[in-house]
Amino acid sequence: MKKLASYVFFIVLCGLALSQPKKDRKCLRGKVITFPKLTTDNWVKLHPNESMDLSAATVCLRFYTERISLDPCLFSLATPSYAEDFSLRWLGYSKQYKMTVHNVWDQFDGLTFNINEWISVCATWDANSGLAQMFVNGVASIKKELGPKEFFKGNPVITLGQCQTQYDGGFQSQSIFTGFIADVHVHGQVLTTRQIETYMDVKTKYKLGDYINWHNLMYTIDGSARVEEKHQVTF
Ligand SMILES: *[C@@H]1O[C@H](CO)[C@@H](O)[C@H](O)[C@H]1NC(C)=O
Repeated sequence: MKKLASYVFFIVLCGLALSQPKKDRKCLRGKVITFPKLTTDNWVKLHPNESMDLSAATVCLRFYTERISLDPCLFSLATPSYAEDFSLRWLGYSKQYKMTVHNVWDQFDGLTFNINEWISVCATWDANSGLAQMFVNGVASIKKELGPKEFFKGNPVITLGQCQTQYDGGFQSQSIFTGFIADVHVHGQVLTTRQIETYMDVKTKYKLGDYINWHNLMYTIDGSARVEEKHQVTF
């Protein structure tokens, strides 16, 4: 009986080991991550080289969606101190972008959100001023005071496709993203409007993230999310 128990235990352990998704380091230039399914078991984790000690941050990414869920989540960075240390999502009812810093959020109005179209987004925040700003397809929002004026600190768990409501998980069906996400870059400073403008103009060479760099990305994919060539999925 004891022998059987340990045999079963061994099988369970191996099963777990096999289903553990693998970390990959790749250049995803010209590629997208496809999120095809409206379930909470599809997500991508991005693994930075170091833990954070950042006085400011800029997150830039492009997405293409049909918005099937209510509040699709574009980017979610959780730390042990704050489950929503930096997150970006679209609010379906109010038609606004929601940006959260250190668990405090605000909404940004009048910025583009079209379905079946690439949309470029950058969001900046800096602990000195406590000011946040968003940029969508070349349009700048106003600046808003957001969150406590603290550094981003600790070991982050960064996810795409789902927003974390707790450190390393707590995904909710209302914030599942479906569609394509590409060119995710995280910078440890506030980019200048000139640098952001360059990022939004897809054809020019732009500044790559010094904290998360799409062109040299360590990531884990789980569920039915997958990497595909951008030119093979959209025009
Ligand atoms: C992380 O480390 C790798 C390997 O040393 C390096 O090639 C890469 O540029 C680093 N990434 C960032 C964002 O600094």
